[in-house]
Amino acid sequence: MIVSLRTILRIAESIGSAVGAFNATSFDGVRAILDAAEEINKPAVLQFAPAAHEVYIPFKKIGPVMMFLAERASVPVCVHLDHGSSLSEVKTALDMGFTGVMYDGSGLPYERNVADTMAAVEVAGKYGASVEAEIGCMGREESESANGGGTCESRYTDPDTAARFVKETGIDALACSFGTVHGIYLSEPVLDIPRIKEIREKTGVPVVMHGGSGISDEDFRKCIKNGVRKINFYTYAAKYAGDAVCSYIGEKSGNIFGHDLFVTMYESMKKTFIDTMKVFSS
Ligand code: 13P
Repeated sequence: MIVSLRTILRIAESIGSAVGAFNATSFDGVRAILDAAEEINKPAVLQFAPAAHEVYIPFKKIGPVMMFLAERASVPVCVHLDHGSSLSEVKTALDMGFTGVMYDGSGLPYERNVADTMAAVEVAGKYGASVEAEIGCMGREESESANGGGTCESRYTDPDTAARFVKETGIDALACSFGTVHGIYLSEPVLDIPRIKEIREKTGVPVVMHGGSGISDEDFRKCIKNGVRKINFYTYAAKYAGDAVCSYIGEKSGNIFGHDLFVTMYESMKKTFIDTMKVFSS
């Protein structure tokens, strides 16, 4: 069943856990996420990031598929836009029925981020959908380390600015920078856990962790304990699925058929999502 981001975050809050937010980049990815959630009876956020994944499948093609399958799921599912880069993209997601949207204005000057996020909150409200926004700046490239060179810390989310941002915009969840980056870590991430606690206390809204791949189970638990309620995770599911295909090809003699590769990827992704959701709720 489809629920809003606000509802799913409330469920996570009530049991002191975090909801897994997984990016789908194919039909098999959508199936793997929903089947994993149903198999262990956990709520999930099924999300798509056009900015990163439009090259693999168009948003307007995968969006309706996400909605169709999520509506039929036996567990609560929020269908969410990840890293929405414009108000028109936000509107596209809402028109497809998405129940959560992230407007990512983190690269914009503060005042412009506030204005655009407020506009996203206003339009999402008309659809009964919830809004996640970002303040601070996470690395986006695999070559960029959150801890590298001491420069990135200056872009970690400032708790007082975060509090002001949440008050001014009225968002439901806040994506923060505290040491994680998207993609594969080049060195072991060191997370600023006290910063999460302070942001949670000062803003009063659930904190969203982006860049969940490569974080240790222990760090996940510390983040959740201090206020993280949504964890975005994709890269390692994709990487392990790639590894599984390589093993399959390495072990197989004779013809290799594309459909067997899809099944291999589906099974690998489903296992990764199950393992990850178990950690987020333990
Ligand atoms: P990873 O690249 O670490 O899996 O994070 C995904 C993410 O944060 C999507 O917004």
